[in-house]
Amino acid sequence: RLLLWSWWLAWLSGLGVTSVVGFSIYTLRCPKEQIEPDPSKKTLVILGMNWLGFRLPAEKARYAELQRRGRLPRNYFLFTPLLPSCTTGLIEHRSIMEPIRNVLRQKKAAVKFYEAEATKIDYEKRVVCIKDESEIKGDISHTEVPFDMLVIGVGAENATFGIPGVREHSCFLKEVNDAQKIRKRIMDCVETAMFKDQPLDEIKRLLHMVVVGGGPTGVEFAGEIQDFFSEDLKKWIPEIQDSFHVSLIEALPNVLPMFSKQLIHYTESIFKEEKIDIRTKTMVKKVTEKYIEAEVTKPDGSKDIEIIPYGLLVWATGNAVRPVVRDLMGQLPAQANSRRGLAVNEDLVVNGAKNIWAVGDCAITNYAPTAQVAVQEGAFLARLFNTMAESDEIEKELQNLSSQQSQEQSENERNEVFEEIRRRQNQMRRVKQIGPFQYSHQGSLAYIGKERAVADISWLNGNIASGGTLTYLFWRSAYLSMCFSTRNRVLVVVDWIKAHLFGRDVSRE
Ligand code: FAD
Ligand code: NAI
Repeated sequence: RLLLWSWWLAWLSGLGVTSVVGFSIYTLRCPKEQIEPDPSKKTLVILGMNWLGFRLPAEKARYAELQRRGRLPRNYFLFTPLLPSCTTGLIEHRSIMEPIRNVLRQKKAAVKFYEAEATKIDYEKRVVCIKDESEIKGDISHTEVPFDMLVIGVGAENATFGIPGVREHSCFLKEVNDAQKIRKRIMDCVETAMFKDQPLDEIKRLLHMVVVGGGPTGVEFAGEIQDFFSEDLKKWIPEIQDSFHVSLIEALPNVLPMFSKQLIHYTESIFKEEKIDIRTKTMVKKVTEKYIEAEVTKPDGSKDIEIIPYGLLVWATGNAVRPVVRDLMGQLPAQANSRRGLAVNEDLVVNGAKNIWAVGDCAITNYAPTAQVAVQEGAFLARLFNTMAESDEIEKELQNLSSQQSQEQSENERNEVFEEIRRRQNQMRRVKQIGPFQYSHQGSLAYIGKERAVADISWLNGNIASGGTLTYLFWRSAYLSMCFSTRNRVLVVVDWIKAHLFGRDVSRE
């Protein structure tokens, strides 16, 4: 009997999961009719479309959306938390990309999307200048988009602190093309090291994978590349076993400064086990094609310059302001003291500007520049815009009701209109109580390699710090559930299974 019940339960849950997945696929494949823009409504322009645009489901405003067009056209959302896994081929990059077109067709709002780079925001004229940077150009590749309201969510670029040689010789890890470049370079270094008669010193240099920046990006990448070596490369190319080496360079006394002390020590001990060399108190000052120059602070406080040869250099030293944002900051006297991005008030309105909001990595708030913050800010703005649209409608109705009041009306009729006005005014007050943006920190998670992760989770006004294999399973399930779509989740799971069964692909392209 118990067996029969278990069988039924398993069958029902199987049916449930299949129905949910089936329905998600059906809604994705069969979008509804797109609403035509209503010219009487205000135009909201959204600049940048990663976490913010995905979460901005306001239905009542008319949208025009812009998207930067870089060297690689980007008409997709990118799930950055799994980007380090793409550098080694554990996950294929397309599995963490969701085409913007697919998503926008599911929205109830009238949305226009332009794949373009915003080159300037003209605050006086209330226009955004955009440029088509793709290889194929039409008759028009520069134009302007006027806005009534503007949301800036262009993120940040890679900080290099003006250190010579960084841009020319290192790889960043922010975009899909960065991950592809790293994946190709790892295999290029390995194959070049295996070239006939290569001297031992050169083999060691080529197989030295250096990561600069001990923040979560650097730590996660170091863990991923060491996994790649121990689980796959070492098996297929045993000759590299003694020379392959990963180093993580950090200017501060420890890595992962935003995690609790106990997790920092745990990460350092796991890296030691994995033979990843952590060099703290080491500040990179110069990068050349084959080596970096770093200033090392010794235990006695004295400083020394060290030359570190490398084959692959990954630069992960945090964020810097994008030019389009810096230009707007220059137009607003209230931003004169901002250095790291657009200063905003508690409603995310850009200081010194009217009807312009900034969110995510390009805005300066009291919170770290993370996806978690960007998602919540996007959701807050969605609520705010819906509220604004709703209060516009109520205001129109109030004007109608006031114009209906006249001396010819009977007392009863006048009372009725008066009651309705009072009801609407109360509704308006409720709608307007959206309040300032409040961030709820769920915790920090990072993968550190060898199927281990670290997590500082907020729990009942306290904090739980945990690290290990169970945390790794939690990390996997949390990020899987946060993926943009069912399609992404299925693809990521398939990639994980593929890598477990057959190993990562070591071909260079
Ligand atoms: P972005 O995600 O950078 O998006 C900006 C968008 O603006 C992009 O679509 C870009 O194409 C567009 N754009 C840029 N310039 C222009 C322009 N001039 N005109 C028009 N459009 C433009 N955070 C976490 O909370 N958890 C994690 O696990 C995590 N892992 C990460 C792993 C990596 C490797 C990296 C790099 C970051 C990670 N982060 C994580 C941080 C997180 O990705 C960012 O905080 C988040 O992406 C910021 O969102 P955003 O929308 O502000 O900017
Ligand atoms: P970061 O700003 O967190 O860390 C950069 C590190 O580089 C700093 O520790 C800094 O001391 C070091 N550094 C700077 N210049 C240096 C130099 N010349 N030589 C040596 N070291 C130098 O940057 P990161 O890791 O790129 O992260 C950016 C943002 O994205 C952060 O807010 C982070 O929280 C978020 N993020 C979150 C993740 C997660 O939650 N799992 C994963 C990746 C990023």
